[in-house]
Amino acid sequence: MIFAANFKTNHTRKSTREYLEVLTQKVVDSACKDAVYVFPPATALDRFETPIVIGAQNAYPTTNGAYTGEIGTEQLDEFGIKTILIGHSERREILHESQEIVAEKFAFFKERGFEIIYCIGEPLEVREQGDEAVIEYLLAQFEGIDTSYEKLIVAYEPIWAIGTGRSATVEEIASTHKALRQSVEKPLLYGGSAKPANIREIIGIDNVDGVLVGSASLDPESFFEMISA
Ligand code: PGA
Repeated sequence: MIFAANFKTNHTRKSTREYLEVLTQKVVDSACKDAVYVFPPATALDRFETPIVIGAQNAYPTTNGAYTGEIGTEQLDEFGIKTILIGHSERREILHESQEIVAEKFAFFKERGFEIIYCIGEPLEVREQGDEAVIEYLLAQFEGIDTSYEKLIVAYEPIWAIGTGRSATVEEIASTHKALRQSVEKPLLYGGSAKPANIREIIGIDNVDGVLVGSASLDPESFFEMISA
């Protein structure tokens, strides 16, 4: 199983280091065989002595240059970061990243051999139209994306379930992942209010290979409770 923690705009450089010390200890002591990823904010990226994979939540498709406020691979290379989240709904919606920009980022980081966790997800009004509309919407988010890329992991995150405390139901996750599996033969994560209370039922669903966790990952105890479930 894959367990990925997306800190979003939470944690500092100091608290990320403390978090990783606690989580690393637990992961090592439990001889955990799952793949564990942590995506801290850019200011907390660093080299850490840990089996946990550290990834970037975002970067601009450039090595360096004049892109005020952005980071490129020069800044990621400093810490040996080779994993990135692309297409998160918060970047699509709040930061207005179009499918074109998302695809451009994907191509850039693929070209450089990054492992990519590529996020897709539908808004509530699409979910309310039923399964067929959901799949059509999700498949459109693969436009311009090489789904055969060997270092691709896909995260299905229904927007209405992110940060709301309301996860998708087992049936919704099962039918969506089953349909996605027919188009994409890559590990499929579920994300959206995954937490210790529902992790067992989520990871027990067919075609779910792991979870991408926001809120419930911010505390290392809670995140590890999910990993050890
Ligand atoms: P959440 O966020 O776990 O807080 O719902 C998930 C995500 O956005 O990756």
